[in-house]
This record gives sequence, structure tokens and C-alpha cells, in this order.
Amino acid sequence: MLIRAANEQDLPVILAITNHAITQTTASWQTVPTDLAQRRQWLRDREAAGQPVLVAEIDGDIAGFATYGSFRAYGGYALTVEHSIYVDGRFQGQGLGRAFLTALLDHATAAGMHVMVGAISADNAVSIKLHEQFGFTITGRMPEVGQKFGRWLDLVLMQKTLSK
Ligand SMILES: CC(C)(COP(=O)(O)OP(=O)(O)OC[C@H]1O[C@@H](n2cnc3c(N)ncnc32)[C@H](O)[C@@H]1OP(=O)(O)O)[C@@H](O)C(=O)NCCC(=O)NCCS
Repeated sequence: MLIRAANEQDLPVILAITNHAITQTTASWQTVPTDLAQRRQWLRDREAAGQPVLVAEIDGDIAGFATYGSFRAYGGYALTVEHSIYVDGRFQGQGLGRAFLTALLDHATAAGMHVMVGAISADNAVSIKLHEQFGFTITGRMPEVGQKFGRWLDLVLMQKTLSK
């Protein structure tokens, strides 16, 4: 398994993984599928900002991707990033989530970021547990701030301080 920077050839698989999460799960709270042009712009924006988009490659297959970007756009938040990790269902439970989180934390620490935030659907026990194992703590719970598939969703905010 190789974790490397994404390139434009990876975008169709990244798009498929993203749209599966949008249409089938509460991991993403987007409700409208995205398209290749939007993914291309997103990759270019992240690259221009020096923010990582990583993919995991297993025997030539792209098994998932992970990224971080600004937590909020205002300058005061410049040293706080929000990340996301998506592993294709066929490859979940094989350690990729851990490998991605390690790589994102290493990148953010090297880039001098101060805090990493995960905004996680409260029903995503696997993700919450993974983040706890990496020293993230729950700093917010927001009941019923989202809606998908005809039900209310609670948001759990988890964060980890990277530097003192
Ligand atoms: C959440 C996610 C990133 C975790 O990545 P992963 O590669 O599946 O997880 P890992 O193999 O690295 O395992 C991490 C931990 O989760 C556990 N785990 C993974 N999949 C699990 C499952 N389906 N059920 C129960 N536990 C599971 C692992 O056992 C491990 O815990 P352990 O060390 O106590 O055994 C991945 O499942 C995923 O992409 N899910 C869909 C999208 C998503 O929810 N993204 C996160 C949005 S915040």
C-alpha cells in the first residue's frame, strides 16, 4: 500500500468515492452529487494552497483519499485545518484510515498548523473511535444541525492540538 499525493488521473475514482458517500451515507452531508470539473478545481485549489490531497494505492487501485483545508476562511483561523478521509468500502477495516490520519497529522504538523478539526456525523462510531485513538477529543456536539435521508443528524466536533 502506497500513500501519495493525488494527481488529475486519480480524480475519476476520487469522484466515485465522493459521490458514493454523498448518495449512500451520512459520512458526507452534501446532498447533491459532485462532478469531475468540481473535483478538478478542488484539487487545484488545494495544491495552490499547499494543502494535501492524498490517495492510497493498492495493487494499482485507488482505495481512498484524504485531505485537509482551512477550517474557516477568515485569517484568524489560518492555523486551524479541517480534514476528511474516505476509504472505498472494499478496503475499509484494513488500516487505511489509520495510515491516512497519520499522514495528514504529519503534513499539518510539518506545515506549522496548530489545530486539526474533524466534523463527524454522530452516527459514525468507527470514525469517532479512530479519532479518539489518535488523541482527538470531542469539543462539541451539535444536535440536529443536519438532515439527510429524512432524519435529523447530530454533528460531533473533534480536535487535536498539533503544536504548543
Ligand atoms: C471511517 C474510515 C475513514 C476508517 O478507515 P478504515 O480504513 O476503515 O479504518 P482502519 O482499518 O484504519 O481502522 C480504524 C479503526 O476502526 C475500526 N473499524 C474499521 N472499520 C470498521 C467497521 N466497519 N466496523 C467496526 N470497526 C471498524 C478498526 O477495527 C480500527 O479500530 P481498532 O484499531 O480498534 O481495531 C473509513 O471506514 C471510511 O472511509 N468510512 C466511510 C467514510 C467516512 O466515514 N469517513 C469519515 C468521515 S468523518
